[in-house]
Amino acid sequence: MQMKLSAPTLCATRPSLAVVRPVAARVVPRAHKEKAEAITGVVFQPFQEVAPVLKSTSQTGALNDPRPEHSFARYSTWTEAIEAAVNEQINVEYNISYVYHAMSIYFDRDNVSLHGIADHFRSESEGERGHAQLLIDLQNTRGGRVKLNALVPPEMNYDHPEKGDALYAFELALALEKLNYSKLLALRDAAEKFSDAQFTQFVEDMLHQQAVDVKENSDYVAQLRRLGKGHGVWHWDRALAESKVATRAVGTP
Ligand SMILES: [Fe+2]
Repeated sequence: MQMKLSAPTLCATRPSLAVVRPVAARVVPRAHKEKAEAITGVVFQPFQEVAPVLKSTSQTGALNDPRPEHSFARYSTWTEAIEAAVNEQINVEYNISYVYHAMSIYFDRDNVSLHGIADHFRSESEGERGHAQLLIDLQNTRGGRVKLNALVPPEMNYDHPEKGDALYAFELALALEKLNYSKLLALRDAAEKFSDAQFTQFVEDMLHQQAVDVKENSDYVAQLRRLGKGHGVWHWDRALAESKVATRAVGTP
């Protein structure tokens, strides 16, 4: 006699063919319901609370038709003002990098030949370019859109009749680093205004490094002011080159 299997038996013996049956709506006892409502506001309601964000994400562009202006990652604190301020700071870093690059090229000239200073400014130029990249990565991470602006052509000649080239270049570098510090302070104000904690922390880390850079350039200016513009500068250039080699040897950035 052939045994006729009922549906529940099939489900138990062959799980891969199990039929998911709708679960009947649970009737929540009135006492439980009142208790749950009493603590609403302290219990995380994932599906209710996420609904507005989910709705705005679903409305971001049609499927298979992503538009460049749409962002899935962008949060409300990443305002247009912050987006523009970050793009301005990217431009500041690029411009300073460009000036340091020009200084490096000048000090490497055959009739200048101060290779310690040339290498220093080349490294500084790459450092500023690195700061621009950090801000670019931040902008993309937060769903903003990077806008690269024009660069100002830098001076290519750093000779100065009274100060000499080395002191003149480092005084200019100090002024640029202090200007950059003030620009970062303005950026931090923007971050604080819109209560974006992650951005505030990011800019504060940059400010810390910027203060170190200002001090380093202040030291260089103080030392070069003692030397004038002659023979002493040649020795200072050698000492700078050796200090950079020593710094790299111990792995200090
Ligand atoms: Fe920088």
